[in-house]
Amino acid sequence: MSTPTPEMIAQGRLMMARAHAPYSNFRVGAVLKGEGGKLYAGCNVENASYPESCCAESSAISVMVADGEKKIAEILVMAEADELVTPCGGCRQKLREFASDTVPIYLCSPEGLRHTVTLGDLLPMSFGPDHLKNTAKL
Ligand code: THU
Repeated sequence: MSTPTPEMIAQGRLMMARAHAPYSNFRVGAVLKGEGGKLYAGCNVENASYPESCCAESSAISVMVADGEKKIAEILVMAEADELVTPCGGCRQKLREFASDTVPIYLCSPEGLRHTVTLGDLLPMSFGPDHLKNTAKL
């Protein structure tokens, strides 16, 4: 079983510190490792118009895609809470666009790794890009 590198943990902490979360006071950091080996980090960015807020995972995906990477090898989510913090439902689907079922998701607190799951654990029998492969023929 893989584990997050110290650099991934450090980026998660940095992203929590940079989160814009004045309404929930719930800071989240997300770090994606692309298949090319680079790290892409994001934080939650809230808005006074609450529904316009953006989750940390979603921010990190934007950074990754803007850099030209389309494949996620590892995912780290970091937040401070009694319960394990997992990606929200919408972010699970957003991650599925670029990650397969077997990709590990490191659920972390600022102190470090708490638990590891896979995307398939969190989003079983998911709908993904493969479902649209043959649509041109239909
Ligand atoms: N949040 C994330 O950024 N990622 C998650 O996986 C769960 C929730 C953010 C959204 C909002 O800014 C705050 O946490 C409270 O819901």
